[in-house]
Amino acid sequence: MTITRRTFLETAGAALATNSVARVEASPVRVAVIGTGGRGSDLIRALTTIDGVELIAVCDDYPPHLEQGAKYAGPQAKTFVDYRKLLDELKPQAVVIAVPLYLHYKIAADCLNAGYEVFLEKTMCYSLAEAKKLAAQVTASKRVFQVGLQRRANAIYKQAQAMVAAGMIGQVVSIKAQWHRNNSWRRPVPVPRTDANWPKLERKLNWRLYKAYSQGLMAELGSHQMDVANWFLGTHPKRVIASGGIEYFRDGREVYDNISCLYEYELKDAQGKSYTVRANYTSLCNNAYEGAAELILGTKGSLYLTSAKGLLFQEKGTDVVSWEGNKDQHAADANAAVVTAGKTLKLSNDPWAHRGAPFEIDIAEGNDTRDELVSFIDHVRREDVKTICDANVGLMDCATILMANQSVETGGWINFPTP
Ligand SMILES: NC(=O)c1ccc[n+]([C@@H]2O[C@H](COP(=O)([O-])OP(=O)(O)OC[C@H]3O[C@@H](n4cnc5c(N)ncnc54)[C@H](O)[C@@H]3O)[C@@H](O)[C@H]2O)c1
Repeated sequence: MTITRRTFLETAGAALATNSVARVEASPVRVAVIGTGGRGSDLIRALTTIDGVELIAVCDDYPPHLEQGAKYAGPQAKTFVDYRKLLDELKPQAVVIAVPLYLHYKIAADCLNAGYEVFLEKTMCYSLAEAKKLAAQVTASKRVFQVGLQRRANAIYKQAQAMVAAGMIGQVVSIKAQWHRNNSWRRPVPVPRTDANWPKLERKLNWRLYKAYSQGLMAELGSHQMDVANWFLGTHPKRVIASGGIEYFRDGREVYDNISCLYEYELKDAQGKSYTVRANYTSLCNNAYEGAAELILGTKGSLYLTSAKGLLFQEKGTDVVSWEGNKDQHAADANAAVVTAGKTLKLSNDPWAHRGAPFEIDIAEGNDTRDELVSFIDHVRREDVKTICDANVGLMDCATILMANQSVETGGWINFPTP
């Protein structure tokens, strides 16, 4: 099968549109950042590289983090400890929010109420009730709203999603995704355990480990990858069964250090017949093998995706996919690897060796955190509420990850919640 780039682009439509670039000739977009910890600092650094952004303020209620955020933002940015004071005094046009999950709803709702456009880090909200309320509020406000699921801005994922939509890997039959790491997920607390301030600081800095503030691995990591599954399959899961626990890091944390989920999606084929796609998702804090990646398995091929690399492995017997128009590329593609389905794999130093050289579908030239912000700023400028990751996407993603946690707690299948 030879597909011209033109045909492919037409099929893929807007999904492949390159990141829109903020128009700098207009007046700058006045942006404030609330939450200047790890992620907030990344966002600030990215914002300072985007033309047409005026970073007017940063806010954090933990002095060392505020100091760090202010340093990255530059001297023009005012500093605030209380975000309500910032909203009242400075009247930013857009607010970027990177606070712990349990505060997402409250701060985002306050910013929308105050009339500002909002970029909110993932996962959209701590609870489904909050996510539903926030989605309704976004719609009523007619404000630009984007959730920070940056794979939606990543060239590799956009390319891969368009390839799936164009039928290039056939019918999707299964998805496998994981985020495996080998570290405690614990941040150092700057006072000893015996210090009277330790409990407060521990919860402040290690909020991820406590259920009152966090939804654990599914919210912090799985939200990115289950969003890829929802996006590529064009729907949300029908049900899930999951198992998880604290098996290794018995250090007082309350969230699981490992979780395994089996999701079922119900789709319809070209003849309107229902079929099920199963998605396996695991996240580990105690073994880093395979890292973070998604594998989309179709009847004609498989897409292996990471934020920096996208590979296509074609099934044996399927026609080689190639781009027309570039002779060298065409020749290279013709020699692309063909995966032999069902082959027993031998352990090897190179786990991909049995597959030969795959066909690289794209490489990430930029930084998807910056790209998602470029897109957000562009939507703010154009007053276009159809962002690349709107409140409905955020709500579906939130429901998808929370149902897995619910399944672990109840020990049975959980259906996708009714709207
Ligand atoms: N998209 C991604 O790849 C990505 C990566 C990491 C984190 N995140 C998300 O970003 C968010 C923040 O995560 P993090 O790792 O930066 O956590 P963090 O603990 O490093 O930073 C959170 C900051 O919010 C501040 N904060 C808490 N309450 C506040 C309040 N009322 N007003 C102002 N500031 C307040 C804290 O003091 C802290 O500095 C989380 O929702 C997380 O899931 C997203």
